[in-house]
Amino acid sequence: MTFGRQLPSLRVPVPGPRSRVFVDRLAAAESPAFTTRRARRAERAGAPMDPIVWRRAKGANVEDSDGNVYVDLTAGCGVAALGHAHPAVVEAAQTQLATLPHARGDLHPSEAKVELLEALAARAPFPDARVVLGLNGSDAIEVALKTAALATGRPGVLAFEGGYHGLAYGAVAACGFQPAFRAPFAAQLNPHVRFAPYPCAGDPVEPALAAVDEALADGRVGAVLYEPLQGRGGVRVPAPGFLEAVRERARAAGALTVADEIFTGLGRCGVPFLSAPADAATSVAPDLLCLGKARAGGLPVSACLGRAEVMAAWGDPTGAALHTGTFYGHPPGCAAALAALETMDREDVAGRARKVGDRFRARLAAVPGVAEVRGLGLMVGIVPAAPRAALGVVAALLTRGYLTLPAGGAADVVQLAPPLTIPEALLEGFVGTLSALLAAPVETRP
Ligand SMILES: Cc1ncc(COP(=O)(O)O)c(C=O)c1O
Repeated sequence: MTFGRQLPSLRVPVPGPRSRVFVDRLAAAESPAFTTRRARRAERAGAPMDPIVWRRAKGANVEDSDGNVYVDLTAGCGVAALGHAHPAVVEAAQTQLATLPHARGDLHPSEAKVELLEALAARAPFPDARVVLGLNGSDAIEVALKTAALATGRPGVLAFEGGYHGLAYGAVAACGFQPAFRAPFAAQLNPHVRFAPYPCAGDPVEPALAAVDEALADGRVGAVLYEPLQGRGGVRVPAPGFLEAVRERARAAGALTVADEIFTGLGRCGVPFLSAPADAATSVAPDLLCLGKARAGGLPVSACLGRAEVMAAWGDPTGAALHTGTFYGHPPGCAAALAALETMDREDVAGRARKVGDRFRARLAAVPGVAEVRGLGLMVGIVPAAPRAALGVVAALLTRGYLTLPAGGAADVVQLAPPLTIPEALLEGFVGTLSALLAAPVETRP
């Protein structure tokens, strides 16, 4: 069996003794938020939720500190779309690291940064794009929100219930996923954020559009921020036509639309960008597009792409660099991102995600004990039938060698976002394991 393409292989029960030692050390050194959250989740799942500690990863596999090998159906939270440690990405990053590990960001950029900006602009779903780089998804969202404020002179943001955009101050103010993320910081957050419902297939669209109209009516909203499919919110595919109607309304009201494709973009959902209009002549594309996660094959690089006329708002009136960061445009990240982009194009990973994802979701939907399967491409959400809870299924799958994520505001969905290059035999192995798990009596904490 080749590490990177193999089925799970567990040497010791999960989590093993070495992982446990690291987790204890973690609890002593890390912010208590994470340990407390794990304890709470374990309580709700009725099963231990202790993490494994990762030692190495390749392709679709992760090995933990105890030598257990897993199939990573999360791609490290959507990052390893090409699989972990893709050779082209590793080589590009290593070469760049040895040649020029760091330049001076905006003051003296690296060649790699210039090439990445050009490559991203050329792939934007609108002509004549301009790009700002960041390190993580939140950075890209902050740029988009600042751009909208500069370009429109309006302070307001319209976001959607269930949406997740990261946890920096600008982004968390627009977090509709769980109000708990905003609550402790409420006094410091943008007070001009409004939320509208995000209807999925079968939900009524008119009340949501009425809420959008109402929010836009006073002319204070500068940015309408949405995910073209809500990932962390529970793999929620929007009702057909809803986001197109939102974009048209935003444009008519003078607000800019921001498509957060940090999770969905770059092929995850079977197309390069979900928010690219199917028909450029009749549909409205977003004004700003945010990318992150899979952007650099495992290195931290994000980007906000915008139409040139919108990005012109940064043509600075004050002479100050209004948005910069020491590590933005980090050369090894840019080189890795370029290599990832070229590989994605060459191997048509979006097309593969579409075909493999369609087959995989159909197989999952036929598993007894699965109430619902939703998603697009290789962004997949499984709702287990009662009485089984998603958190318990995620915990049980871990002990069987499959890494999955809980999603949804109530953590009621098992989310899968595997590498887009994953061998189908591994997905088939997962279908078998899930079937056996759901056919067995519900496990409870010993
Ligand atoms: C849709 C979406 N936007 C933004 C973010 C935030 O990205 P980051 O965690 O890199 O800041 C995430 C992270 O899960 C996301 O899924």
